[in-house]
Amino acid sequence: MFEQLTLKPADSILKLIAEHRDDPRAEKVDLGVGVYRDSLGSTPIMRSVKKAEHWLVGSQASKAYLGSRGDAVFCEAIQQMMFGHESVSDGRISTIQSPGGSGALRIAAQVILRANPKATMWVSDPTWDNHVPLLGEAGVNLRSHTYYDRQKNTIRFDGMLEALKESVPGDLILLHGCCHNPTGMDLSIEQWNRIAEFVEERKLIPFIDLAYQGFAEGLEEDRYGVKVMYERVPELVVTQSCSKNFGLYRDRVGALSMVAADGPLAEIMDSQVLSAVRTMYSVPPDHGAAVVSKIINDAELKSEWLAELSAIRTRLKQMRKLLVEELYRTAPTKDFSHIERTTGMFCYLGVSAEQVVLLKQDHGVYLLDSGRINVCGITESNVQYLAESIASVI
Ligand SMILES: Cc1ncc(COP(=O)(O)O)c(C=O)c1O
Repeated sequence: MFEQLTLKPADSILKLIAEHRDDPRAEKVDLGVGVYRDSLGSTPIMRSVKKAEHWLVGSQASKAYLGSRGDAVFCEAIQQMMFGHESVSDGRISTIQSPGGSGALRIAAQVILRANPKATMWVSDPTWDNHVPLLGEAGVNLRSHTYYDRQKNTIRFDGMLEALKESVPGDLILLHGCCHNPTGMDLSIEQWNRIAEFVEERKLIPFIDLAYQGFAEGLEEDRYGVKVMYERVPELVVTQSCSKNFGLYRDRVGALSMVAADGPLAEIMDSQVLSAVRTMYSVPPDHGAAVVSKIINDAELKSEWLAELSAIRTRLKQMRKLLVEELYRTAPTKDFSHIERTTGMFCYLGVSAEQVVLLKQDHGVYLLDSGRINVCGITESNVQYLAESIASVI
């Protein structure tokens, strides 16, 4: 049987990580990774997370199965963080704990296929590298719509609406709630309002993937898209990840919330979601979700976590500012100001594929072939070298 299989190429990000690791140059810079890094280049466990873990180890009395939904206390807490207290009492939302944001995306795909296998899901061009393989492999029909102008480094909003005119009622549109991966260029409040109007007019179903709540402007601000869609449309899908905002990458914590038009429909949908979980991984992992639940429900831990999250946001903004300032000095003829208009960990640097190769070969600066950088790879001590390297290849 296995002789029928062919070798899959190695993941390009893993390849890049290996190339950077094996590069002997001391001044090398890693802008390729997909995780948050602090100014020392490490991905530390948050202090609030450590404290909640200590509490958990001391108080947990059983490792018995949780059930397909996961922990109800976690689900309630994470749902409120996304939808706000006022929404959750109307019975329209079904929330489950999932193995990361990826697990939530996969379960959502499964339920969408049961409900309407003919529906097309529209994804932005570009989108997160794993959206298309993950949702496509599940069997969802995918089409892409215009999103980013690589020449002007802005959102092509008119082009996006134009492309979406080919959608039909019942199609889904996958929107990044904030910190668009890979461009870092988010919809403005006016654009979210216009998209909500468009979705309502054309009877589309918004699917919001929010993997970075708290990384752009704040927990409240970053859920604007979810809030406006929830208020305007009868059906909505939201996937959440706690990998970045709680730094719980390997513990696999996320959530899927599906919103139906009314309570009785939500009950049916909830039963479908739970049965999809049962057929895929049966029950979610517990540890990370128990930690998140403790943090959100404990006032002291929550304020410590919010302060840590705010420090991450501040660092991301500062590094963007610093890079743009240094580039203005080293490469004054080229405009890199778009970098400061982006949010979260990622953005396009604004260089060509050939320049990406030169940065790697001649300077040991590693970024994705697409030109996507992880802003966390910038530090006060490498920014000058980085800007000089970029200036020398453009
Ligand atoms: C846009 C987006 N969605 C979802 C995810 C999934 O995250 P995870 O499965 O690690 O929680 C990521 C991770 O990088 C992402 O960037």
